[in-house]
Amino acid sequence: MHRDATQTVFGAGSQDARVMLVGEQPGDQEDRQGKPFVGPAGKLLDRALEEAGIDPSEAYVTNAVKHFKFTRAEPRKRRIHKAPNLREMTACGPWLAAELSVVEPELIVVLGATAGKALLGSSFRVTQVRGTVLEEDVHGRPERLVPTVHPSSVLRSDDREAAYRGLVSDLHVAADALS
Ligand code: URA
Repeated sequence: MHRDATQTVFGAGSQDARVMLVGEQPGDQEDRQGKPFVGPAGKLLDRALEEAGIDPSEAYVTNAVKHFKFTRAEPRKRRIHKAPNLREMTACGPWLAAELSVVEPELIVVLGATAGKALLGSSFRVTQVRGTVLEEDVHGRPERLVPTVHPSSVLRSDDREAAYRGLVSDLHVAADALS
């Protein structure tokens, strides 16, 4: 993955952050700029966080996988996101574990299935647990987590408004768990 990507995209935010948001992997814009969630999904996420009462500038934001994986239909064509596989998620696991042990967040917001599988194992199903507060062992530490959908899935949804409302509603659960 790292050979094709522009750069490694590490997490961003304060070491004292109370909440850690975990996404899948950097997208096209994140790969170019070297920062997580700076593209369209990140803009939507910031808006949803603010609406739910979580200040995005106070959150620590990262991804389960640290490189952009993509395909191109033809040379010089747009880069199309490709989901990371289990091996790639496992390879990046130690970095996510290290971020958790340094930041020690009070709450982890799990953004979508890849982040959920990376943190909680392959049986994770976002539709079953979204918008609830889970208490689980993650990399050997007890953590509180609120899963929700990935903001990119809102952008792809046929009913964007309903999908966005669902995301904000789940983030309200996270905001309440922090207060
Ligand atoms: N999607 C992600 O999962 N992470 C990013 O940083 C950007 C888009």
